Amino acid sequence: MNTADETEKTRKRYDRAAGFFDFMEGPMEARRFSRWRARLRQRLTGTPALEVGVGTGKNMPYYPPGVKITAIDLSPRMLDRARRRAALLGLEVDLLEMDVQDLQFADQTFHTVFATFVFCSVPNPVQGLRELRRVCRPDGRLVLLEHMRPGKAWLGSVFDVFNPLAVRVTGANINRRTMANISRAGWTIEVEENLFSDIVRWIEARP
Ligand SMILES: C[S@@+](CC[C@H](N)C(=O)[O-])C[C@H]1O[C@@H](n2cnc3c(N)ncnc32)[C@H](O)[C@@H]1O
Repeated sequence: MNTADETEKTRKRYDRAAGFFDFMEGPMEARRFSRWRARLRQRLTGTPALEVGVGTGKNMPYYPPGVKITAIDLSPRMLDRARRRAALLGLEVDLLEMDVQDLQFADQTFHTVFATFVFCSVPNPVQGLRELRRVCRPDGRLVLLEHMRPGKAWLGSVFDVFNPLAVRVTGANINRRTMANISRAGWTIEVEENLFSDIVRWIEARP
């Protein structure tokens, strides 16, 4: 399947998931995700900032005051949920339907570009990360919270075997080599912190 077809499939998958996404992730959100997301308060220092794959807007409670945020997503239904959350929280966020693989922003528009649990589902993650680098200022940074293929060879192979099933059920690839993808897109990784084994990581990089 080519990237355009895969992107369309991803959009439809998240449109279908939008209604039950928060419920499905509820237990993980309560146990771990929300604690990790809270770091964004300290780490989104520059303005303006771009959030990619905003989903239902789960990072919004952690947007620091004073940072102007534009947030994009491929899925109109996820964006509807994000709009509702922004209104409930009284936040002013520019929410736009857009593909990270083909950003409609000028070069060097944003200080910080960030995403949480997104590059597992972007069909061409290196292209998406290249686009983020293009729209990031030279003194800016990339902030990511992502799950990825574990480093241990045997466990990595297990994730490879189960990946097609994971994609079908959740829409997310569990065997992405995200650290390598970030470097391939031209970013210089400065912070790489394991949050759950080496599967979930907090990453910061500069262009
Ligand atoms: C697993 S959800 C994560 C949502 C949110 N970031 C969070 O932490 O809850 C992945 C999101 O990325 C979006 N997405 C996937 N591919 C994308 C692309 N190419 N461009 C923009 N958004 C994309 C999906 O529509 C979905 O909302």
